[in-house]
Amino acid sequence: MTMFRTAVFRLYLLGSALIVTCAQFGSSYYCDKTYPCDCKTLEQCKPIVANKHRKEVIVLAKDKDVTSKTYLHWDWRNITVVYTENFHDPELMCHAHKQGARYGLRYVLKNITAFYDTEFRENFTKGLIFQSHCTRNDAINLDIDVPLAQDSNDSRLLVSVLRDIRNGFDDMIGNFPVVGDGSTTKCQLSFSVPWMPYCFDDMCLPEAEMADIVDLFIIKSDHIHGVHDWGGNCTAGAHAPFAQILYGYTMYMSVNMPVNQMVLSVPWYGYKYRCTYFDPKTNRCIVSPKPFHGVNCSYATGERLSLAKILAIKVQYNASRLWHSGYRTPYFNYKNTTDGYMYQVWYEDEQSTWTKYAYSKEANFKGIAVWYGDSLEYNSSQKEIQNFTYHMWEAVDLVEAYKYESRACDEQLPGMVTGIAASMFLCGTLVGIGLGALLTKFDRKRKKTIAQEQGDTDVLTEMMETEHKTDATIRV
Ligand SMILES: *[C@@H]1O[C@H](CO)[C@@H](O)[C@H](O)[C@H]1NC(C)=O
Ligand SMILES: *[C@@H]1O[C@H](CO)[C@@H](O)[C@H](O)[C@H]1NC(C)=O
Ligand SMILES: *[C@@H]1O[C@H](CO)[C@@H](O)[C@H](O)[C@H]1NC(C)=O
Ligand SMILES: *[C@@H]1O[C@H](CO)[C@@H](O)[C@H](O)[C@H]1NC(C)=O
Ligand SMILES: *[C@@H]1O[C@H](CO)[C@@H](O)[C@H](O)[C@H]1NC(C)=O
Ligand SMILES: *[C@@H]1O[C@H](CO)[C@@H](O)[C@H](O)[C@H]1NC(C)=O
Ligand SMILES: *[C@@H]1O[C@H](CO)[C@@H](O)[C@H](O)[C@H]1NC(C)=O
Ligand SMILES: *[C@@H]1O[C@H](CO)[C@@H](O)[C@H](O)[C@H]1NC(C)=O
Ligand SMILES: *[C@@H]1O[C@H](CO)[C@@H](O)[C@H](O)[C@H]1NC(C)=O
Ligand SMILES: *[C@@H]1O[C@H](CO)[C@@H](O)[C@H](O)[C@H]1NC(C)=O
Repeated sequence: MTMFRTAVFRLYLLGSALIVTCAQFGSSYYCDKTYPCDCKTLEQCKPIVANKHRKEVIVLAKDKDVTSKTYLHWDWRNITVVYTENFHDPELMCHAHKQGARYGLRYVLKNITAFYDTEFRENFTKGLIFQSHCTRNDAINLDIDVPLAQDSNDSRLLVSVLRDIRNGFDDMIGNFPVVGDGSTTKCQLSFSVPWMPYCFDDMCLPEAEMADIVDLFIIKSDHIHGVHDWGGNCTAGAHAPFAQILYGYTMYMSVNMPVNQMVLSVPWYGYKYRCTYFDPKTNRCIVSPKPFHGVNCSYATGERLSLAKILAIKVQYNASRLWHSGYRTPYFNYKNTTDGYMYQVWYEDEQSTWTKYAYSKEANFKGIAVWYGDSLEYNSSQKEIQNFTYHMWEAVDLVEAYKYESRACDEQLPGMVTGIAASMFLCGTLVGIGLGALLTKFDRKRKKTIAQEQGDTDVLTEMMETEHKTDATIRV
């Protein structure tokens, strides 16, 4: 509460300072007095309102991108939005706008009850809008970190707060000069949702009502699993298993979420797990339990690492890349020379990333989100790491560049990933979508039962665990 209050209060202070300025200097350029445009050209301070039909490629920037300016090395050709979390960086804003990408703030709501206080709510909304506007944001991402009961007062409150924010932005930027053809909303509003609906993790979002207000839903498929409870033993696994992404998509279809508002968020990070028991025959790594959200096994027992750090470990230990065909995710094992334990690392590479991006395209999502942008290394002298970085961004560009329409399973794909992998993926994807289409024919109630039964995805997990074997040991 205190942290939240403090953040809101800061927003409020900023907001009220600007309201005064606004009254004095008229509606268009009031920010220029208090926060002059820091960019090389005034154009770079204007919101980008263009390319309605372009696929969205959203990248989250963490502090590191800004301090070490790794964002200068990103492949910006297809990036449409950059979010920052908990900070504002004018240089990044100018750079994004110069590259034709929106720049926005990500904000996580941590207390919904506070919004019952009308005054608080007004202060918050105004603060958010003024702050965003004056830092030249033309995008905002909201997320919620507290449980929300189905059809509750809280959930209705959330909808009305979102509506306030939407209207506030629209009024605010109303007559503001923009760059572009004017085909999109002036401030793009996105909301991050769990990987599946139906109250997953006690999050019952009113998707239908929200869909009229927000431009995009970011499906948090970067955050599905990690550690599975397997007969009472916590077992390390993939963070974003492909089958579950398909399942989540199917479930969202059944609550009629508009697919042209859906953005698939894919992890650009991995997890390192210390095995308390390791079976070299099955590559099964049992880890210590770490209760979280009422389950005994969670990824909190591992350590989150950037892909750059993971690659460095892989190179240091000369570890062999293994491929899990059920999860469609790479991993590797190594024995730590310091503590003598076996470790297992689950991560993403161009093959797993490409699978997901290709799928999002196949399913006609509005785009993808790179969660996080600062995961790669750009100055490595290792050829393997250089290649890795290059191919990850190449996978991103596929989202715009490559068309998949009615492609047969056995057709050759352009030389992005090795041929074997590619055709397997696409066939798998098509089967997945076929299954999805069938499932969406069931009525909503029936679906809900399925979702509840499988809410913890034990069934899927089990199905995939049976495939937990090393059927391919492809070297990168
Ligand atoms: C949320 O805000 C309300 C009202 O301001 C307060 O009473 C409550 O303690 C807060 N809850 C949390 C979890 O911070
Ligand atoms: C809202 O702002 C007013 C000043 O306009 C201030 O007096 C009040 O304490 C604020 N309310 C909350 C709940 O933050
Ligand atoms: C929800 O709001 C209504 C009307 O505002 C009120 O009568 C009801 O008690 C509230 N329900 C809960 C569970 O707080
Ligand atoms: C769980 O671990 C225990 C001890 O390592 C083992 O005896 C048991 O068979 C394991 N259970 C499964 C389902 O693998
Ligand atoms: C968690 O582990 C404890 C002790 O091992 C066990 O009693 C409990 O049933 C487990 N809970 C779940 C949800 O599996
Ligand atoms: C790394 O592993 C491969 C086999 O996986 C082996 O051929 C090679 O010699 C190893 N390199 C080093 C430096 O240990
Ligand atoms: C090896 O183990 C030590 C001690 O537990 C730990 O500090 C270090 O991070 C580990 N290194 C790797 C690469 O796992
Ligand atoms: C790459 O640059 C970062 C700082 O930008 C530095 O910490 C790191 O050591 C560099 N790596 C190499 C291999 O030069
Ligand atoms: C890097 O990629 C090039 C071609 O793109 C390939 O020839 C080379 O073997 C790769 N090197 C490593 C270490 O993966
Ligand atoms: C996306 O990137 C590719 C390069 O891989 C480029 O050819 C294409 O024009 C880009 N798309 C857009 C919309 O900029």
